[in-house]
Amino acid sequence: MTNKTSTKVTLEDAYAIETTQDCVDLYAKWADTYDESFAREYDYHAPDIIADTYADRCSDKTAPVLDIGAGTGLVSEGLVTRGITTVDAFDISTEMLRVANQKGLYRRLIQGDLTKTLDIPDASYDGITSAGTFTHGHVGPEALDELIRIGRPGALYVLSIRSTIFESAGFRDKFAQLAAQIREFEIIEKSLYGKSARPDLRSSTSSVTIFRKS
Ligand SMILES: C[S@@+](CC[C@H](N)C(=O)[O-])C[C@H]1O[C@@H](n2cnc3c(N)ncnc32)[C@H](O)[C@@H]1O
Repeated sequence: MTNKTSTKVTLEDAYAIETTQDCVDLYAKWADTYDESFAREYDYHAPDIIADTYADRCSDKTAPVLDIGAGTGLVSEGLVTRGITTVDAFDISTEMLRVANQKGLYRRLIQGDLTKTLDIPDASYDGITSAGTFTHGHVGPEALDELIRIGRPGALYVLSIRSTIFESAGFRDKFAQLAAQIREFEIIEKSLYGKSARPDLRSSTSSVTIFRKS
């Protein structure tokens, strides 16, 4: 039996956080209700877009993928539904990973901090996916060096980055610095929320950033 918390968490709480510890505290409270009170109620479809884009472009559906900031596993659900067979989850929140684990999707779950050196060997993954983690108060472009280190040559990256912070948080500059290590770089602007989302959210977009490790 899970130990559910009834604490009400809102999207506004998520956008108000500023530090890694704020993230840990927020998602500890949100884990058990995130799928219903946020993803379904807000028609949050970014995870599905990331999974669809990844599955569409990957050449080997059995190759290992790491979903970073995996949360409760919404991207991974989309990957597995589309035939991707080997998915690992990485997240700082043990509570979010506990909920993800209940879905039975993963080869491995890894608890860790994307802003630090990752306890993952070089060239471990053929794919890296992410939704909702490169956003206000969460994770910035400093994580990209480690993500490139753990990718194999040719690894496919499909990362949603909140459009409003792409320039201001330094993602554009960081990708320019990484130009020699990546290829086939592309950005597609996508809505984060679907048609039944709250009206004020319908214009929120994500810069879906796609590239391969050279
Ligand atoms: C908005 S949720 C997104 C979850 C899932 N990808 C989705 O789209 O539903 C953001 C996730 O990023 C994780 N996160 C935030 N900061 C992190 C960090 N420094 N290292 C690893 N994970 C982090 C949170 O714990 C949370 O699960």
